[in-house]
Amino acid sequence: MSQFVRNSNGRARVLVTGGCGFIGSNFIHHLIEDTNAEIANLDLLTYAGNLQTVADVADHPRHRFVQGDIADSNLVRQLIDDFAPTYLINFAAESHVDRSIDGPADFIHTNIVGTYNLLDNALSYWRTLDNVDQARFRFLHVSTDEVYGSLGDHGTFSEDTPYAPNSPYSASKAASDHLVRAWYHTYGLPTLTTNCSNNYGPYQFPEKLIPLVILNALEGKPLPIYGDGQNVRDWLFVEDHCRAIWLTVNEGKPGEIYNIGGNSEKTNLEVVDTLCLLLDELLPDSLHSPHSQLKTFVADRPGHDWRYAIDASKIRNQLGWQPQETFESGMRKTVQWYLDHLDWCEAVNADNYDGQRLGLQ
Ligand code: NAD
Ligand code: DAU
Repeated sequence: MSQFVRNSNGRARVLVTGGCGFIGSNFIHHLIEDTNAEIANLDLLTYAGNLQTVADVADHPRHRFVQGDIADSNLVRQLIDDFAPTYLINFAAESHVDRSIDGPADFIHTNIVGTYNLLDNALSYWRTLDNVDQARFRFLHVSTDEVYGSLGDHGTFSEDTPYAPNSPYSASKAASDHLVRAWYHTYGLPTLTTNCSNNYGPYQFPEKLIPLVILNALEGKPLPIYGDGQNVRDWLFVEDHCRAIWLTVNEGKPGEIYNIGGNSEKTNLEVVDTLCLLLDELLPDSLHSPHSQLKTFVADRPGHDWRYAIDASKIRNQLGWQPQETFESGMRKTVQWYLDHLDWCEAVNADNYDGQRLGLQ
């Protein structure tokens, strides 16, 4: 790890965990394209992380990759000491609700123990910094709206909504959020937490609804819709989430939580119908058109949360953030990206996932 050169001319040095996954990789691309930050990318390369996802920045002078587990204390301590981060941004997680139903252990390990280990080592490092660097340091924890539980047909989640997680995934994320809160209140570590709604866009692993539907549709396979398809999610284009995180780590107030959402509530059926129409248009010669004929209602997810909706007024009013993409523009970009990157889909699915149903235990 001695490859890290400490003199960075005042640039932010950003330790990104989980940078080979969906949101983390989009964030790294954002940092490379739109900032002068230097990046260390710590990722275990689980089934959900792949070096192909960051292949275009692999040799970039401002990006260094380190393979390892956020729960490995020796590794994290050495990496933090060598890299001397200005910011630590924790994207690393087990992220798929269905997998958490089948096997919660990895979720406890990474999401809870791993976050604890990052906090513990970040605090030890922060205590060694001088006043100027202590004041600048931030630990930003990327979390989810699922910690708030499930809404009925009305209302939204605000930062004051009580936690009520319902799945092993959301319970593990809720636990990690509480640890982050405690490290601020007890030890004074300058932490921030963001709780975001459903993301979509490039590089999402094809176990999640949107890429799964696109890839199944291309092969003429059934498009699985859990239950009656009326569950509602609030969708945000991933690049808008990345812009919100960078703004929050730079401008947010330590100890605060910021909710992030797309103000774009859709039933799952509306999402699948939108994808089918886009595929019909973009693939006029497809043998499977109209793709909506592939829609198939299947057994519901156990404990399926009914509805999520985010009140993002705090980050909008206090930090001036708002999404740049609409659902329509973001979905069009997303479908086109998958059509143009079928080689990436094949590479990340290889030996990992073939589209089978998960989470029915
Ligand atoms: P992802 O599953 O696509 O990627 C997770 C990454 O973390 C992978 O690269 C994986 O290899 C890595 N990882 C897993 N365990 C690790 C460990 N022990 N040590 C180091 N690296 C490890 O997840 P994502 O969708 O990009 O989500 C990123 C974060 O954002 C998560 O914390 C998730 O809870 C949160 N989030 C996701 C969404 C969403 O819609 N995807 C919405 C809100 C919040
Ligand atoms: O809300 C934020 C969360 O969004 C993140 O914290 C999670 O990491 C992320 O995975 C996502 O969770 P969801 O469970 O909402 O995402 P998923 O894509 O798995 O499912 C979206 C909706 O679609 C959900 O209501 C379940 C449904 N679904 C999902 C799949 C995979 C289907 O109907 N069919 C499917 O095949």
